[in-house]
Amino acid sequence: MTLTDLRGSGRAVGAFNAILLEHAEAIVTGAEQAGLPVILQISQNAVRYHGSLAPFATACLSLAAAASVPVTVHLDHAEDEDLIDQAVALGLRSVMFDAAALPYEENVARTRAVVHRCHAVGCAVEAELGEIGGKDGAHAPGVRTDPAQAAAFVAATGVDSLAVAVGSSHAMASRDARLDLDLIARLADAVPVPLVLHGSSGVPDDGLREAAARGITKVNVGTLLNRVLTETVRDVLAGQDTLTDPRKYLTPGRDAVRAEVTRLLTLLGAGVPA
Ligand code: G3H
Ligand code: ZN
Repeated sequence: MTLTDLRGSGRAVGAFNAILLEHAEAIVTGAEQAGLPVILQISQNAVRYHGSLAPFATACLSLAAAASVPVTVHLDHAEDEDLIDQAVALGLRSVMFDAAALPYEENVARTRAVVHRCHAVGCAVEAELGEIGGKDGAHAPGVRTDPAQAAAFVAATGVDSLAVAVGSSHAMASRDARLDLDLIARLADAVPVPLVLHGSSGVPDDGLREAAARGITKVNVGTLLNRVLTETVRDVLAGQDTLTDPRKYLTPGRDAVRAEVTRLLTLLGAGVPA
């Protein structure tokens, strides 16, 4: 089922950020346990950490190809058009071009050019309108996406999905963000493509359910999985001064991430009456 098929169903697909191979393995096996599709995301920041896209993206594509459920490998928050071209050349067919920090007209022009190149090879493009706070501390919190401008942006660029600012913020350590649910419903009415919620780690479970019911189709989660991984590893390592084999602490860390992926996918995929 594609994002477009899911739009309007009251359900959403989970899109999880992977930095390490263990994240990617947990995301794929977590989706298999849920029996649901998943989006496996590699951000531009994760590419910077590894130094290049190809080794990790190739591993993710290999996991996706072998999975028993549909797994879409997606390039997340790419601000660099060259990185998008590299992703397409490697075989990714879903990318996000993030020009939200640019003035509106420049965001439109650069996004439209990316869409043109990507659609020529069958690659879907997500864009962002209205900066979602918190990423690298550089974005202004409290910004909201205007529905009329969002509709105009989609018409002008031809994007396949749109990340909107509706009250979440990237990299939140606590899950107490309150979404503007009425705005989500107005955006879903105004915009003819699936809407994407970023910074979903800070949104509590009932907020995620409500967001899906009101019209969010893709839910991006990164920080929460890192918290689950790191807290599990920290617990395992506590007092274990002679433990050196990374498999001894990464195995329980990966298991905990897998369980959280299964839980979130099931929650988002169940849907609630709108
Ligand atoms: O694009 C990635 C997401 O927006 C992740 O945000 O780390 O706050 O969950 P998060
Ligand atoms: Zn994001």
